[in-house]
Amino acid sequence: MSERKNNLAEMHAAQKLLGWYDRHRRVLPWRALPGETPDPYRVWLSEIMLQQTTVVTVKPYYEKFLQLFPTIHDLAAAPDDAVMTAWAGLGYYSRARNLLKCARTLVTAHDGVFPQSESALLTLPGIGPYTAAAIAAIAFNQQAAPVDGNIERVLARLLALTTPLPKLKAEVKTYATQFVEADAPNNRPGDIAQAMMDLGATICTPKRPNCLLCPWQEDCAAKLQGIEETLPRRAPKKPKPERRGTVWWLENKKGEVLMYRRPEKGLLGGMMMLPSAGWDADNDSTLTHALPDIETQSLPGAVVHVFTHFRLTLKVERLTAPPRFKPPAAHIWVHPKDFPDTALPSVMRKVVTHVLG
Ligand code: ADE
Repeated sequence: MSERKNNLAEMHAAQKLLGWYDRHRRVLPWRALPGETPDPYRVWLSEIMLQQTTVVTVKPYYEKFLQLFPTIHDLAAAPDDAVMTAWAGLGYYSRARNLLKCARTLVTAHDGVFPQSESALLTLPGIGPYTAAAIAAIAFNQQAAPVDGNIERVLARLLALTTPLPKLKAEVKTYATQFVEADAPNNRPGDIAQAMMDLGATICTPKRPNCLLCPWQEDCAAKLQGIEETLPRRAPKKPKPERRGTVWWLENKKGEVLMYRRPEKGLLGGMMMLPSAGWDADNDSTLTHALPDIETQSLPGAVVHVFTHFRLTLKVERLTAPPRFKPPAAHIWVHPKDFPDTALPSVMRKVVTHVLG
């Protein structure tokens, strides 16, 4: 390991990377321009949104969020539902709930000011090791080394690390930390993190990396061995379990559709759903009990949505509420014209498209 450390310094890896970054850095809505001071609120918000999601997907959500909640104080004061609705479609909804919890904690306990150290950031809701390091480095230029998927790939290739994921992550963290320490005199940990992210997103891509444009083309151990496209290695993936269920599109005379809100905790917590059953035993809609007397029309085809831990296939049944139908507890009528302002997760948006086209 110490040999690699010497190599990192000898190959001037940080200088080459930062020189490249100064010429080619991406302009991103949450990123401070050279010479500007980063806004921790924006850095935090972007890092939470970017987990498991791409820059292209995040940009419109990020911009809408900043318009609705320009400061941490606006976000902390917002009703839960306004935040969940603005997040709807980004997925992993516990992130939105923790975002709000974190904003409220910061405002009530820290006057709305983010702590600067990685360890203090780690104590806040929704901020794990990656996000704490990313905020400390990018917002406060602390000597911290966040490791995301891009950084994993870039360093695995530079150093030809053949350990498969997920074990690789800890190894990369060690080298990323050494990388930042080796560059301590220049004091640019935030730029090192962002430069590796940009290199991974634009040049050192998973497939067909553009090595001719890479600032490390002469140093990259994987390239020298011709194994760059095979890194990072992954332990073989298990296929996702399949789940199946039914979702009901129950309409009343006014054209409104029956919905209910998921419990706050767990999968899709706090989001609005069409009543469904059969795929998430603890959360079957109680509508099932009210259905036997209503004639249903099964729509052809099905809606498929892939969650982190399983693949879901939903059959869609369309029904019209009889005159004296009483919605079960916790169910409400929502008109389709109000769907854009409703916290509908992606799986439910797919159902809406399946029904309405
Ligand atoms: N991916 C995650 N965080 C990022 C950032 N700050 N800049 C670019 N891509 C990112």
